[in-house]
Amino acid sequence: MSVSLRILALIGLAAQNAAWPQDPVPRLHVKLREVIGQRFLGNESHVEHFKLLERSTTSILIGARNAIYNISLHDLTEIIDQRLQWPSSGAHRELCYLKGGSEDDCQNYIRVFGREGPDRFLICGTNAFKPFCWPFQIKNGTYVKENGMDGLGLCPYDPQHNSTAVFVDGQLYAATVAYFSGGDPLIHRDGIRTERSDLNQLNGPNFVSSFAYEDYVFFFYRETAVEYMNCGKAVYSRVGRVCQHDKGGPHAFNDRWTSFLKARLNCSIPDEYPFYFNEIQSTSDVTEGLYGGERSRLVYGVFTTPVNSIGGSAVCAFNMSSILEVFQGAFKEQETINSNWLRVLPEKVPLPRPGSCVNDSRTLPDVTVNFVKAHPLMDEAVQSHFALPVITKVSFNYRFTKVAVDPQVKALDGKLYDILYIGTDDGRVLKALNTLAPDTTSDVGQVIVSDVQVLKHGQAVKDLLVVHLAGEASKLVVFADSEIRAVPLHHCDLPTASTCMSCVALQDPHCAWDAITNRCVAVPTKLHDNAADQTLFQDIVAGKHKGCGYEQEMAKPVLPAVLPEIGRGELPDERDNEIVIELDRENQYSRTQPRANEPQGVIVTPVVYSAQTLTGALIGTCFFSLLAGFASGFWFSQRLRGTPYPDPPEQRQQLNRLTESSESPGFNNKSINLVLNVPPKNPNGKNANSSAENKPVQKVKKTYI
Ligand SMILES: *[C@@H]1O[C@H](CO)[C@@H](O)[C@H](O)[C@H]1NC(C)=O
Ligand SMILES: *[C@@H]1O[C@H](CO)[C@@H](O)[C@H](O)[C@H]1NC(C)=O
Ligand SMILES: *[C@@H]1O[C@H](CO)[C@@H](O)[C@H](O)[C@H]1NC(C)=O
Ligand SMILES: *[C@@H]1O[C@H](CO)[C@@H](O)[C@H](O)[C@H]1NC(C)=O
Ligand SMILES: *[C@@H]1O[C@H](CO)[C@@H](O)[C@H](O)[C@H]1NC(C)=O
Repeated sequence: MSVSLRILALIGLAAQNAAWPQDPVPRLHVKLREVIGQRFLGNESHVEHFKLLERSTTSILIGARNAIYNISLHDLTEIIDQRLQWPSSGAHRELCYLKGGSEDDCQNYIRVFGREGPDRFLICGTNAFKPFCWPFQIKNGTYVKENGMDGLGLCPYDPQHNSTAVFVDGQLYAATVAYFSGGDPLIHRDGIRTERSDLNQLNGPNFVSSFAYEDYVFFFYRETAVEYMNCGKAVYSRVGRVCQHDKGGPHAFNDRWTSFLKARLNCSIPDEYPFYFNEIQSTSDVTEGLYGGERSRLVYGVFTTPVNSIGGSAVCAFNMSSILEVFQGAFKEQETINSNWLRVLPEKVPLPRPGSCVNDSRTLPDVTVNFVKAHPLMDEAVQSHFALPVITKVSFNYRFTKVAVDPQVKALDGKLYDILYIGTDDGRVLKALNTLAPDTTSDVGQVIVSDVQVLKHGQAVKDLLVVHLAGEASKLVVFADSEIRAVPLHHCDLPTASTCMSCVALQDPHCAWDAITNRCVAVPTKLHDNAADQTLFQDIVAGKHKGCGYEQEMAKPVLPAVLPEIGRGELPDERDNEIVIELDRENQYSRTQPRANEPQGVIVTPVVYSAQTLTGALIGTCFFSLLAGFASGFWFSQRLRGTPYPDPPEQRQQLNRLTESSESPGFNNKSINLVLNVPPKNPNGKNANSSAENKPVQKVKKTYI
């Protein structure tokens, strides 16, 4: 009976495993203590809430608490005499304390920056719960303040609020809140805004990014879905847009957009019942390149599952022309409050087409303006450019927060790959790529080259910037609330990549095995013509090169951190799991001593294992104990049959003892429960995280390794 139970559990696991794509396993793990690089900490006596405001060739402007820092990209040091100080006035701070704000709330966090010319710019700060903007002029190297203005609806009240703003043609487009409790969300530009408390337009949005593209300004955000008709509520990801030349509507609509439209973004794993990553967290810049042989402009986005469910993250790519196309398609509507949301028939759409950009929107007929106000939602979702997410990851430890792209990096095979750097909420940066991107858009080859613990204390990665400086090694700048760090773009020279096979297995366009010096070297990816170079070995798609002499290499012990390629559908190698756990321990260790002013948002979680670790360990154990149980049973049945006068009680006792000890210690009722409780089917975050539940697995692993 117990055997059939085990088999049932195994079948259950296998079925659950099949529903999820095989997560790519990082080829290389780099620990915090191995991370070299430059740092900028700002004023360490408080949390700065760094925000990247502007990037120029060799410097970046960083918004912080009561200050803007001008930081050199060469070494991440502050440029002397370039700090702009702007604390809130005493009166504003007093008022803020009266409203119940804390010492940290009642400061001025600078969030918004717009350049109006080489020596003129506008900055906005939270200003102790009274958002305010100042235009500045640079005169003879000093900053001169001009007349300030109210920052309501341009800048959030709270540095943590999910707002976005972009400066286009001298005008600031902002998506934020116009009320300090977070009520009245809006998308706004100089006197024109979205409708107040109209849930069809904006419904509890969290804005993540915005940029100008063609005649439009695009906003990316997530919000409660009005069109979701099942019980409960759902959050969907959106792309919204307005026309840059929207002048507001006629008559009473003169302060409302006539061009605000939005569409759902579909980042999902295709299946009979697709699995959706519904909550957008960030987007990259628009990158142009060759994908599946066609030139396209893509924007990459980070999407996750809801916080209270299993920790799934994905990066999906969207083609800008598919986004534009969806906005040319059908609208969606709900005729009465209880009816379903359906596509609006084309004959019911007035002319001129609602939401299209016109020279003077104030001359639009009322019917068009009324239609767009009542139908901001498009019927179709924007589908991701590749058939699948570019990267997916299931983890109890972390979720993705941010993606930055080093576009169209040339590998030795002459093909161009977008290299993705993905930040997580526990301070890692994953380097990943889609190895099939140059050849097809109907499949993806998910590869994670490296997993680098860049930040201490499990701080979340808030922003990422890829920096190429003339005559210097390129770097990745990683932003956290209280720290800015620069790290190398590649780790070809780490000892873990010191064999030909492990170097090629990285599948990293930045690294190749140099057969002359016998080293894993960084190859210049931008301007090289050495595709014909016979002494550099690299293979992006398979991670194997015949030049490495495989048979010979295989005989040597393989270094644990670098794996031969693991195909989709195969079980992860036990060695990965071991590395993952090692990293997690270190993480937990470092989280026990947080900085005094650690941001409130950081949650200290117990050591937990990834879904792969769990399933790998469990299947391994089940299989092992099945085999062991069968072997010992068989052995004893043979022995007993052969014994002429068995001594029943003693024999039985011995039998019991032996079968017990031949069982793996982890295989008890508890681990069966664990098998049956394993998410994804029953995503109960609390249970999955409880360390008590995980203990047997750890034991199991030890016996197995
Ligand atoms: C750091 O901030 C504190 C206030 O929080 C201030 O008193 C101190 O002067 C600042 N230090 C520097 C170096 O700016
Ligand atoms: C930041 O410093 C750089 C280098 O000195 C300078 O060129 C740039 O104008 C500065 N930026 C601002 C906004 O002051
Ligand atoms: C902003 O986004 C972060 C990350 O998705 C989330 O944890 C946080 O709760 C959001 N803030 C608000 C005020 O909703
Ligand atoms: C989202 O994409 C999946 C394929 O990944 C598809 O099956 C599904 O129908 C799409 N959903 C919507 C709402 O477009
Ligand atoms: C819009 O204005 C441009 C020039 O400003 C003009 O060439 C164009 O014909 C106008 N379009 C319409 C539809 O009026």
